[in-house]
Amino acid sequence: MKILLIGASGVLGNRLYNDTIKKKWNILGTYCSRESEGLCYLDLKNRKSIEKIFRLFSPEVIVLAGGLADVDQCQIKPKLAYEVNVKGTLEIIKKVKQYGAKLVFLSTDYVFDGKDGPYKEKDRPAPVNIYGRTKLEGEQSVKGLLKNYLIIRTSQIYGLDSRSKNFAIKIISNMQTNKRIYAACDFYSTPTYVGSLSCGIIELLEKGRGGTFNIAGTDFISRCEYVNKIADIFNLDKRFIKKVKLRDLKLRAPRPPKAGLNATKISGISKNILLSCTQGLNVFKKEMRFL
Ligand SMILES: NC(=O)c1ccc[n+]([C@@H]2O[C@H](COP(=O)([O-])OP(=O)(O)OC[C@H]3O[C@@H](n4cnc5c(N)ncnc54)[C@H](OP(=O)(O)O)[C@@H]3O)[C@@H](O)[C@H]2O)c1
Repeated sequence: MKILLIGASGVLGNRLYNDTIKKKWNILGTYCSRESEGLCYLDLKNRKSIEKIFRLFSPEVIVLAGGLADVDQCQIKPKLAYEVNVKGTLEIIKKVKQYGAKLVFLSTDYVFDGKDGPYKEKDRPAPVNIYGRTKLEGEQSVKGLLKNYLIIRTSQIYGLDSRSKNFAIKIISNMQTNKRIYAACDFYSTPTYVGSLSCGIIELLEKGRGGTFNIAGTDFISRCEYVNKIADIFNLDKRFIKKVKLRDLKLRAPRPPKAGLNATKISGISKNILLSCTQGLNVFKKEMRFL
């Protein structure tokens, strides 16, 4: 299988790239702003860079894990968010059609309004911020224009991350340096270990599956509970955790308060890939020891 992985320099992309290399799949990964050894340049805003990579590699599967995934940045720069996440996805869809390939599109629990999570695949999306809207438009284009696709929704990814950008890593490094952590007790998600997500995508590809799948952790918990779990597992001082309400955080983009995903559909196909927070954080801690 010849796989083009767009966004191989991101937290999911990096893990998926390494997991597929171990399986000896023929994979080409791309970066956008952070040049990394072994990866090729592709910018979703730059049609020529897309054409060049497709001409060079002729992929059979394209995993679109790249894009603007920073929720507040999308709210601050809506034009950029649309250009990358919506128009960029359309450019990729055109190429997927031209090459008769399959597309794996990464999406989010933020396509929902968060009134009634965790959500199943068939629940009705109603995004409350620009990021969620751009991802939903991406999903709709994929479903409307392609037959051979997978839409993978996930939630609150954690795991090794070379840029130290994901929430769990920020919490760990802030608590290690005695910085105060504001954790919302009314903001829920289903934190997802990046290894589970990567494994689920690989299994769905190996089994030739199509359609929409949720891949998420098994715990539906508030940020406050999540931060306390991180502190327990990484032996951090809980005195620095301050329990607040979501509205106190004054975030630029509104958040769906109770989003999160119900992933029972994939657990019927891929056994034992979904982890609780305690299980996933323990695996993550072991991986950190080897750095
Ligand atoms: N992180 C989460 O908690 C979460 C939750 C739900 C869904 N998701 C979705 O899962 C996917 C992967 O997320 P992630 O957390 O791994 O993202 P990430 O760590 O923020 O990485 C984003 C990736 O996209 C690339 N990228 C950024 N702008 C680009 C552009 N204009 N053209 C091409 N590539 C571009 C980045 O490359 P450079 O760094 O080299 O610029 C990087 O490789 C995204 O679709 C995201 O929406 C993430």
